[in-house]
Amino acid sequence: MGSVAIKKIEQPKSFKFSKANLDKIEKILAKYPSNQKASAVMPLLDLVQRQHQNWIPEVAMEEIARILEMPRIKVFEVATFYTMYNLKPVGEYLIQLCTTTPCWLCGSADIVKACEDHLGIKVGETSKDGKFTLVEVECLGACVNAPMIQVNDDYYEDLTAENMIELLEHLKTGDDITVGSQTGRTGSCAEAGPTTLESHAKKAKIKMAEIEEDK
Ligand code: FES
Repeated sequence: MGSVAIKKIEQPKSFKFSKANLDKIEKILAKYPSNQKASAVMPLLDLVQRQHQNWIPEVAMEEIARILEMPRIKVFEVATFYTMYNLKPVGEYLIQLCTTTPCWLCGSADIVKACEDHLGIKVGETSKDGKFTLVEVECLGACVNAPMIQVNDDYYEDLTAENMIELLEHLKTGDDITVGSQTGRTGSCAEAGPTTLESHAKKAKIKMAEIEEDK
């Protein structure tokens, strides 16, 4: 699969929220005092991203400024500060590769290499078919299940080069995929099963077989 680096960003000329999103905006605004509409800027940016192929064009930020009665520059400031907002087109699957120390110690370099080799693109690029974008990110807060990645809204954890490639193939073909641990670990439970609070673990039906075996 070849690669294409997105250089010139084609900005759409107009943006309108869908009817469903306008209804959501009404509900979001109801949470804030009427003279504090700007407080809703982050959820509205998120709505744009979900409506507009996972990225936020400039005209949409202008529309948010109009709805929230705030200066356009303030919307731009928020959108450019947080990396979760994409300000240029990305693939259908935005793959965020965590390479911070705990993930790195557990093999994130192998995960990055597996993605780059399998998709034929480098970090920062989008595959030619528009399906995948690779980006490197700082700690996503799931270090205990390292190495891990985020794909759109979901986390995939306990990765190896092999299960990472399987995951990419399942994303490509649209097959069902298991979110979370790719080795079947429940939550952030120790690999060998619970070692403390076992009665709570039993109640939660966590790795009961292993607990019983150990006794
Ligand atoms: S270092 Fe990767 S999730 Fe924290």
